[in-house]
Amino acid sequence: MCGIVGYIGPGDSVPILLDGLKRLEYRGYDSAGLAVLNGTGRIELRRSTGKLANLEKVVSQEPLQGSTGIGHTRWATHGPPSEANAHPHRVGGLVLVHNGIIENHMELKKELLGEGRSFSSETDTEVLCHLIDRQSKRGLALPEAVRAALAEVRGTYAIGVMSESEPGLVVGARNGSPLIVGLGADASFLASDVPAVLPYTRDVIFLDDGEVAILSASGVEVTGLEGERRPKTSTRIDWNPVMAERGGYKHFMLKEIHEQPRSFSDTLLGRYSLERGEVEIEGFMLDEGAVGDIEQVVIVACGTSWHAGLIARYWIESLARLPVTVDIASEFRYRDPLVPPGTLFVSITQSGETADTLAAQREARRRGAKTVTICNVVGSTATREADAVIYTHAGPEIGVASTKAFTSQLAALFLLAVRLARGRGTLTNDAARCLLEDLIRIPLRMEEALARAGEIAALARRLAGARDFLYLGRGINFPVALEGALKLKEISYIHAEGYPAGELKHGPIALIDEQVPVVVLAPHDAVYEKVLSNLEEVRARGGRIIAVTDRADESVRARAEAVLDVPATHPLLTPILFALPLQLLAYYVSDLKGCDVDQPRNLAKSVTVE
Ligand code: F6R
Repeated sequence: MCGIVGYIGPGDSVPILLDGLKRLEYRGYDSAGLAVLNGTGRIELRRSTGKLANLEKVVSQEPLQGSTGIGHTRWATHGPPSEANAHPHRVGGLVLVHNGIIENHMELKKELLGEGRSFSSETDTEVLCHLIDRQSKRGLALPEAVRAALAEVRGTYAIGVMSESEPGLVVGARNGSPLIVGLGADASFLASDVPAVLPYTRDVIFLDDGEVAILSASGVEVTGLEGERRPKTSTRIDWNPVMAERGGYKHFMLKEIHEQPRSFSDTLLGRYSLERGEVEIEGFMLDEGAVGDIEQVVIVACGTSWHAGLIARYWIESLARLPVTVDIASEFRYRDPLVPPGTLFVSITQSGETADTLAAQREARRRGAKTVTICNVVGSTATREADAVIYTHAGPEIGVASTKAFTSQLAALFLLAVRLARGRGTLTNDAARCLLEDLIRIPLRMEEALARAGEIAALARRLAGARDFLYLGRGINFPVALEGALKLKEISYIHAEGYPAGELKHGPIALIDEQVPVVVLAPHDAVYEKVLSNLEEVRARGGRIIAVTDRADESVRARAEAVLDVPATHPLLTPILFALPLQLLAYYVSDLKGCDVDQPRNLAKSVTVE
């Protein structure tokens, strides 16, 4: 999830681009760059790793000026943060900024290398720059060259392109990654998001997938990928700048909850083949032979990431038939753990910088395990130190409470489970295909689940005064109960506990009275009847039952004060959807209580100390 800006008009583009990038810095900030067409008709680049301040320093040391330019803040997906991997990328007189993932970049790169082209970065983006240059060399004008090159790529993109040979144009295009056009009186703007253009104009065009925008100082033309004209109407934006940064949402956490259909798809992108029922993860080092040597899996993480690991245990055990242990990182590192030969060690960490998880990973490596990390931040310590990485590609998560990173971890872990199962021969390709089909339908189901946010907000009003909450789940949804309780306690400061529903009568039932909401996860799976008995136990003690279910039948309705519906899916995948109403419930309760949702007290996004 990177930030793109573009400007063409009468003024100097440099301060406008830098200001726009600053307003998009929330989208990612491991490196940044600018390309500006100077007065002599040459395009000059300035790039730098780290925060935008570093780029500003480079620009002040080596100033540049010009009335047409594009800029980028990067959140690395392919290739670590470095100056060479920072955008814009240049091929000859053509420069490009890109947000998204080019799925078929490896095969295209091979083809381009075969034609004698050379590459100066490890990014997927540079491939697209070469493709546009190749089309231009065949005699196409810039907009046509962009369209023809886009027809050659698979994947997601928002791009901005300019060329020394057509100085009066900036071309943008989108497919799956956001891109807007800002309409000024005598200038045009391109940006990943509205905040970048708000100081200059409030009139914007939201591009749709498959659209190309051709910007000049005098206006903007939008076409489809075949070159057909697309009439677009502009929208007048009345958000204040802070609202705009959050995409119109009141908090980053709410924005990130609603981003999950997209972030989940991004994790899956280009990593499976339905025809073959296979999972292929770039950078995952285990070939068939190595998968066959694995005898046990050890998963280690903290907090929400640990909950993702607990869910993955069910997947790996049931699909790949491998024994799995799941440990809290701070416990693993100090308990002289057993790591026999044949151990695959999996760390899960959004930030890649959690001190305990890093120490556990180092310990496992020292003891001879092969280590894989499931991580969201490219180039982070965990990814540099592990033998292999599965990136979650969820984009930067700003809210301290993890939401979209969690469901993206689940997506990556499910892929890993299928990969191990296929490698070990415990899953036929037909069975794998069916599971993968269910998996890729999850984003649609997520949309349906999130469409019920209003109901959950209303329920939150009835529950926000409670002092304690219990969350109950069984089997694969027990970790979701833990996650629901953690979300609520960390952002609303209400005491909440998650329990396996079967444990209720071994202690926690003593807490139940008419003041305590008990959130019960009740999917129609193998343990549904058992969960109904647990509902009965709660009801008999006067507890307030909030049932979350994928089919609200009479038996649930009769027992619950409120029922939250979740779309049905494969029983193994229910945790992914059941997590969403719990995230929303925690969010609305916290907001109603007036808590600092995005930055709850005493917490940090990345826990880099023990
Ligand atoms: C809870 C939350 C934390 C993190 C934990 C691990 O919402 O965000 O519990 O999950 O601190 O962080 P990472 O995944 O960065 O290692």
